[in-house]
Amino acid sequence: MAFRCDLIIRDATILDGTGAPRFQGDVAVEGDRIRAVGDLSSASGAREVIATGRALAPGFIDAHTHDDRAVLCGPACQHCKVSQGVTSVVVGNCGVSLAPLRVSKRPIPPLDLLGDESWFTLGSFAEYADALGRNPTNVNTLAFCGHMSLRVEAMDGDVYRAANDREIAQMQSRLREALQQGAAGFTTGLYYPPNAQAPTDEVIAVGEALAEVGGIYMTHMRDEADGVLDSIRETLRIGRETRAEVVISHHKCSMPENFGRSTDTLALIDRMGQDQPVAFDVYPYPAGSTVLMPDRLRQDVPVQITWSVPHPEQAGRNLDDIARDWGVTRKAAAEKLLPAGAIYFQMDEADVRRIMAHPRSMIGSDGIPHDAKPHPRLWGTFPRVLGHYVRDVGLFSLETAVHKMTGRTAQVFGIPDRGTIRPGAFADLVLFDSTTIRDMATYADPTAQSLGVEEVWTNGESVFAAGDITGAAPGRFIANPRRAA
Ligand code: ZN
Ligand code: CU
Repeated sequence: MAFRCDLIIRDATILDGTGAPRFQGDVAVEGDRIRAVGDLSSASGAREVIATGRALAPGFIDAHTHDDRAVLCGPACQHCKVSQGVTSVVVGNCGVSLAPLRVSKRPIPPLDLLGDESWFTLGSFAEYADALGRNPTNVNTLAFCGHMSLRVEAMDGDVYRAANDREIAQMQSRLREALQQGAAGFTTGLYYPPNAQAPTDEVIAVGEALAEVGGIYMTHMRDEADGVLDSIRETLRIGRETRAEVVISHHKCSMPENFGRSTDTLALIDRMGQDQPVAFDVYPYPAGSTVLMPDRLRQDVPVQITWSVPHPEQAGRNLDDIARDWGVTRKAAAEKLLPAGAIYFQMDEADVRRIMAHPRSMIGSDGIPHDAKPHPRLWGTFPRVLGHYVRDVGLFSLETAVHKMTGRTAQVFGIPDRGTIRPGAFADLVLFDSTTIRDMATYADPTAQSLGVEEVWTNGESVFAAGDITGAAPGRFIANPRRAA
């Protein structure tokens, strides 16, 4: 096969994203697509990269992010992601989406993890897609519509109750419109106080739009602690009634008394998953992060502050230390810090590993991009899986790890032509050294860049090389893949 193309990456160890065994070969790129894979010694490229000894994988898909706003502020805002090899992000998680919602005062938590009122200016999903087109970035975006954003609008901010029929009808029609305009599905965050009073029937009624237009139901479940099994049953019921495929967000068993229960949750998911499609994402750390909630603090769960509006100087510090310095109780200190965000050390390492190793899992960072001292998952998730969990711990093979970051994720979300290396697929690619790749971000130094990622291409364009972003912004909006034709 003699031909000329834009780029050939030669003699790489190819992990094609399907989970199949690695093989040596060349990959040719023409424009935004992969043209050929194999022995391409008779072809030539305008640029050729010799990749001997390095791994080449499909660009990673971050299955769970809160990057709704970060994808609107240019390539530098996704430095944390492309430096890990990420080329696509899934936004709008946990019921929190930037669109469709306009607000005039600071949005209630956790909506405010996306920013203050100045960011909530997009009254429809069409406007969101349009904003992405006008402010291009270096990753592709698959966007969901959040229940909480719909509630704040339909209930005019009065959200600490169940919605009435008129409000439900409005949410349903807004969701229908969003799905038609490109939203990939509907997310909820029933755990959070502003949504916890939404009964299952409210979610099903709003989610009716999923059955009509097509889309996925994805959820931060009502309870990830004592009631986790009931929450899984509720989630799967919502999926059945709305005829939607289900994704359980950041699956975990929270709080010390629930350590070890992932054996039961995974068995339940597998049993119910015989009759309906269900997947979950997971991040590779035994600590979570979200807004600071003083009413939910526990003495046996250490807390580290990630940001605080009135006390920005306390970001990165342990809540107990702050309380001691201030001479007040933990709860009083937390109340003084509001609005604020926190890291909660509330999981068991054995559960994290069991959930990650399960065949239904996908890797999602759940990184929170605008925090002053974020959870290290924002900068470290993907190299942590490939370095720490594959190479150091031996939890699963490199092929399996890459699959959970690429082919499996593309399949679960139905993303066309991404997540695998094959002729005709989009040229989203990451070149890395599997012997040195490593996360450097820690709880103390959370924005340290990972090591071992050499170059990253999105839609055929180099977006990360020589340890830095290139400034190119070839990312695209991926319109609802499940929308019925
Ligand atoms: Zn969440
Ligand atoms: Cu989340």
